[in-house]
Amino acid sequence: MLLIRGARDTDIENIRLIYNQGIEDRIATLEGATKDEAYMRNWFETHQGRYQILVAEANGEVVGWAAINPYSSRCAYDGVGDISVYIHRNWRGKGVGSQLLQKLEEAGKEYKFYKFVLFTFPFNKLGQGLYRKLGYREVGVFHNQGLLDGNFIDVMAMEKLL
Ligand SMILES: CC(C)(COP(=O)(O)OP(=O)(O)OC[C@H]1O[C@@H](n2cnc3c(N)ncnc32)[C@H](O)[C@@H]1OP(=O)(O)O)[C@@H](O)C(=O)NCCC(=O)NCCS
Repeated sequence: MLLIRGARDTDIENIRLIYNQGIEDRIATLEGATKDEAYMRNWFETHQGRYQILVAEANGEVVGWAAINPYSSRCAYDGVGDISVYIHRNWRGKGVGSQLLQKLEEAGKEYKFYKFVLFTFPFNKLGQGLYRKLGYREVGVFHNQGLLDGNFIDVMAMEKLL
């Protein structure tokens, strides 16, 4: 039984552990270096108000998280949220990401976001499965958009009108 709830500062360490798994697995982000506690605390503190962080809890254990990040500092883009979703390695492919993202969309609508965007790797099969299932549209692929371990990586932009 999963519980989806707002993140508390006592969740920061578990959020960090799950984020670092995504970084180490080289399937989710162009971030190359794992994150320390200070980085994660600062990230948590910048995610207040409408920039929500949700966690998924199973049997009292945090097994995944999702967040709305600012897309742009320009006020014209105030209603566009950039999203992140990370699930613990042992819990991927079990429906946690779907439940988290659905709740994140509800939270986004409450806070007057009209669109979510995300940037993902075209080879991230589970990510593609999740986003397409929930109705995210492929906007396009940036070729050689970023460097990871010295190699160019393509990045796919996706969007959903909420
Ligand atoms: C990507 C991620 C967030 C998806 O969350 P998840 O909990 O694993 O996804 P779900 O179990 O909800 O699956 C979503 C859909 O993907 C599809 N899917 C499941 N397993 C799949 C697989 N092995 N290959 C392709 N598609 C798959 C299914 O359509 C599934 O929905 P369904 O089971 O109702 O049919 C998660 O796997 C993860 O954290 N990965 C590492 C970090 C990451 O890549 N984050 C995203 C950065 S863009």
